[in-house]
Amino acid sequence: MKARLAAILFFLATGVALHASGQGDTLRILSIGNSFSVDAVEQNLHEIAADAGKVYIIGNMYIGGCSLERHYGNTLSGAGAYSYRKVDAEGERSVNKNFSIPEALADENWDVVTFQQSSPFSGLPASYEPWLGRLIAYAKPRVPEGVKFYFHQTWAYSEDSLNPAYSNYGCDQNLMYESIMAASQAAVERHGIGIIPCGTAIQNYRATWYRDNVNRDGYHLNLAGRYIAAATWYCTLSGQDVRGNAYRPEHLSIGQVKAAQESAWAAYQSPFEVTDFGMRTRDRNVNYDLALVPDFKLPDALLCSSGMKVRNSAEWEHLRRPELLALFEREMFGKVPRADIAMKSEVLESATGVLGGLADRKQVKLTFSSGRRQLEVDLLIYSPSGAEAPSPAFLGINFIGNHTVCADPSILLTPQENMQKRYGSYAGIDRNKDATRYGRGSMNSRWPLEMILRSGYALVTFYRGDIDPDYDDGFYNGIHPLFYADGQTYPERDEWGTIAAWSWGLSRVLDYLETDSSVDASKVAVVGHSRLGKAALWAGATDQRFAMVVSNGSGCGGAALSRRAYGETVEIINRSFPHWFCANFKKYGGKENKLPFDQHELLALIAPRPLYVASGSQDRWADPEGEFLSAKAASEVYRLYGFKGLSRAKMPGAGGAVTSDRMAYHLHEGKHDITPFDWERFISFADKFLKK
Ligand code: GCU
Repeated sequence: MKARLAAILFFLATGVALHASGQGDTLRILSIGNSFSVDAVEQNLHEIAADAGKVYIIGNMYIGGCSLERHYGNTLSGAGAYSYRKVDAEGERSVNKNFSIPEALADENWDVVTFQQSSPFSGLPASYEPWLGRLIAYAKPRVPEGVKFYFHQTWAYSEDSLNPAYSNYGCDQNLMYESIMAASQAAVERHGIGIIPCGTAIQNYRATWYRDNVNRDGYHLNLAGRYIAAATWYCTLSGQDVRGNAYRPEHLSIGQVKAAQESAWAAYQSPFEVTDFGMRTRDRNVNYDLALVPDFKLPDALLCSSGMKVRNSAEWEHLRRPELLALFEREMFGKVPRADIAMKSEVLESATGVLGGLADRKQVKLTFSSGRRQLEVDLLIYSPSGAEAPSPAFLGINFIGNHTVCADPSILLTPQENMQKRYGSYAGIDRNKDATRYGRGSMNSRWPLEMILRSGYALVTFYRGDIDPDYDDGFYNGIHPLFYADGQTYPERDEWGTIAAWSWGLSRVLDYLETDSSVDASKVAVVGHSRLGKAALWAGATDQRFAMVVSNGSGCGGAALSRRAYGETVEIINRSFPHWFCANFKKYGGKENKLPFDQHELLALIAPRPLYVASGSQDRWADPEGEFLSAKAASEVYRLYGFKGLSRAKMPGAGGAVTSDRMAYHLHEGKHDITPFDWERFISFADKFLKK
């Protein structure tokens, strides 16, 4: 309230009305900007206004990365250096190349003219002047009297942005945000102009449970980010509350739109500080009380949709299994679209007798191409040195990059030009390659190579972001665009998210391994921890060539039963990681009982192949008991093949394990992690099947 009052007083003191008044219901807006104004004004602004019965005509003068200084230079020279992008009264979009600022100022009877600083300088006040003042002075006599001038406050980069300009702010999002606030507030006070507080709106949204999911490449906005920015423009220019506006861009959930509207409206009222409007991460309702686990009945894995109950493995394979697989595809992980994708492999490097003579190493680049685009994945393979026959192998995706798996200095690093698109935000980034936190070998406790190799197994791994970066980039940087049909820019509601993309990648690596003599492709166990455990399970379900499947701490969306709603839930996972599953899955948030399956049926799709499910005793978020019960329930399908699975097992205590013919479960003592303790057990279980 105090902040709101301060904002109102500020506007009164500076003589700026709280909003722009247009001509009737029409408002004519000229933005002199760069790619950040492309993000803010070109997609949703016209539509939001239209829903409120207003007509916004929008002109955007665009030069990539254009600074205030350069804009001013262009006013003087009259250079036709801009792409002039216009949204007309009907919402039609057009682009005019080689446009000049004098031409743009004269193009309409503008009601509003906006300026902005290029993002690298947006928090550096000294870079604003004298240019902003001169731009306003230049424009004023060339536009109708009464035009409102605004400064478009841009946003801080994603937490782990790799944009080199991020170092202007110590690669610190908060510092960048605070710097933009100070610079933009001083600028609008100096000139008595309005502020369009997109930087604050974006930061408000980042403080909700949707977190830092607003960028598509670490600095430009993704679909959610663009909507937030447009909603902020709307609130500011109209002075009206955007909350409840019914226009919803495609691919955004109702929840995202609601959080975006709240973020924009709060920013309009407190343009220079983050507002807590009660959608913080800590507010989510996480249940850790067993007494509060809802009553539920698990769907019967053996019951076909026709009502027929499966009696044997043949009926399972021909009737029920395909039907279940299709349901998981359509409602949860998403289908891989049909497309003509070529895969090429190239051995980049190989050496024998490495790691003290224990291993042979091979690094292979897989290149996927559709007609339009290419994607490269770097495989790292260690196989036991001197093995007489191709080795059985563990194949798993790594979180932070091949170089983190082992301190071996010969592991190739991701080329710098690929870093941003592969690494994106959220996961830490090894900015200067050998940096300590995510440097070489920093994840070696998760990959006990020596143990794996001495036990006679190869290890094959690749970095998750090579297939699809792990952030909500609008499916822009990874494998998805290779599969788009003509004109498609986003997966359909039933098409794959990121987890299915990773699983697809696992299968392609298996294709490659079929051609590589160091590994026996018929003896590959697919393994994964956490989100990558979800991917391993889905890979095991969709690709029966995997001889064994291991999930560790895979939790919600992995081995854990959704209906227990204990720890992470369907609702929470869809909010925090909107890119993981297909759009159809979103409708089950808080409605687990409506799911046409539960996760025990995902495990059942792996039958009769050996399956290992592991959890951590302190990993309540992943619901260890829900993982165990799920494995136990899946045993019913193993029984069709004559295996008892875990049907009679009891949940072990911390540090305990239960193993039967084709299924195993253990609960390591401790937190959410994959450790040598886990690997020892995976290996001894694998020995029964992959060493024959
Ligand atoms: C988050 C997420 C989990 C996921 C985990 C991980 O905690 O909520 O679903 O398994 O990250 O991948 O480490």
